[in-house]
Amino acid sequence: MAALLSCPRRHPSVHLLILTLFIASLLPILDGLELGGDGLYREILRDETVLRLKELGKISDGEGYLERTFLSPASIRASHVIISWMKDAGLTTWIDQMGNIHGRFEPTNSTKEALLIGSHMDTVIDAGMYDGSLGIICAISALKVLKLTGKLQRLTRPVEVIAFSDEEGVRFQTTFLGSAAVAGTLPESILRVSDKSGTTVQDVLKLNSFEATAAALGQAKYSPESVGSYVEVHMEQGPVLEALRYPLGVVKGIAGQTRLKVIINGSQGHAGTVPMKLRRDPMVAAAELVLTLETLCKQPNKFLTYDEECGCFTEESLAGLVCTVGELLTWPSASNVIPGQVNFTVDIRAMDDKVRETIVTSFSRLVLQRCDDRLVDCTVEKKHAASATPCDAELTSQLERAARSTLSSMTTMTSSPAAAAVPVLMSGAGHDAMAMARLTKVGMLFVRCRRGVSHSPEESVLDDDVWAAGLALVNFVDQNAVAPATTPETATAEVAAES
Ligand code: GLV
Ligand code: MN
Ligand code: MN
Repeated sequence: MAALLSCPRRHPSVHLLILTLFIASLLPILDGLELGGDGLYREILRDETVLRLKELGKISDGEGYLERTFLSPASIRASHVIISWMKDAGLTTWIDQMGNIHGRFEPTNSTKEALLIGSHMDTVIDAGMYDGSLGIICAISALKVLKLTGKLQRLTRPVEVIAFSDEEGVRFQTTFLGSAAVAGTLPESILRVSDKSGTTVQDVLKLNSFEATAAALGQAKYSPESVGSYVEVHMEQGPVLEALRYPLGVVKGIAGQTRLKVIINGSQGHAGTVPMKLRRDPMVAAAELVLTLETLCKQPNKFLTYDEECGCFTEESLAGLVCTVGELLTWPSASNVIPGQVNFTVDIRAMDDKVRETIVTSFSRLVLQRCDDRLVDCTVEKKHAASATPCDAELTSQLERAARSTLSSMTTMTSSPAAAAVPVLMSGAGHDAMAMARLTKVGMLFVRCRRGVSHSPEESVLDDDVWAAGLALVNFVDQNAVAPATTPETATAEVAAES
């Protein structure tokens, strides 16, 4: 090699050609030596990814449990760690005006729309370590593999990983603060929304040195022309893939969701002196309403007759209808006081938007009726509503192909007799892909989890399934955004064209 390069009579472009061919011939060998040699990149996609999941899972605002809400101190610490991983993967990084973390590779002279890959860095309270983080870390690891195999340089379009600052909506009861800002659908009024302590979104942004103005929010927005698609890897959060004994699935669509807050005011009083007949007790009204909601969602057709409501409650349209009261607060919350106020959250989801809207209307009406009966005052506030979101058919089949080729290269991964067919699922959980669907076409890859458990520290994904998800993402980007390797013929043509 040294002799070849030092030959004085060769034209410089011939040296370039020889060097190019030499490096090209080395790439698969380097790949083999440094990354395991079998094209599965276990050290990065499994071992390092799992280590990073554990590391991020320890960055918490809570003592002894995982909690990271929008721009909390732990979220800021997590941002720094994520940025360092993005840099390690060869990406250019920045934080936008809504606290989203971006890591991008921009090929020179590319005019094509970007491929965005993301998920959220915030968590619920007492969370597991996979919800959101899995999608971010798998994406960073996949790009790191592309960097180490020289493929990042051959990207045909910009590829960007985004760690969204808020998807769970735990603090402000309104989801997708991060992804809705990127999609450009976050209303200016969001700045005035406050948490339980009266702190507004604007306060939190300012506290963290963001501008916190409507104009600044606008800067986080991407133009639809600059983005080609959005892809998200996420744990399934349900039991289907495990039952099918299949590690990966693709998502057909995401259920719509509505969040309500019910506020009930009664008469605060002494638990020992106010006779039962004279009470205006918001707690019992709340209890009755929680049960009413359960019945409404378990047996919707009992409540909603054909003529009275939409008349469309077929078994199919009821798919995925679920209703939850997850938070109930009482004031003043003492054992010897009849409460003066009780309020609770309501979360209603369904695949069919009409079903969800009908349930919301019916429940709101029932709240007023029951509250009248109990002589308490009730209000129902709508905090959030998102329509059901279909995933893009073409992206879904590209993800399906990537998952299939991944699993056939990891032959021990599935014990399903129908291993060739990647399962297609609906998602009952909300995802940033819902917000991003307002900007671009979206696709999602689901990863099997243990017993379908999520929003719990019991969340668990097999290390090998983490690996499969990362490899599927490598294959997806490779198949959709990487130019073929330079062949000796094209190298010769390139050099000939230069000289
Ligand atoms: C987010 O995880 C949601 O579905 O609420
Ligand atoms: Mn979640
Ligand atoms: Mn999530």
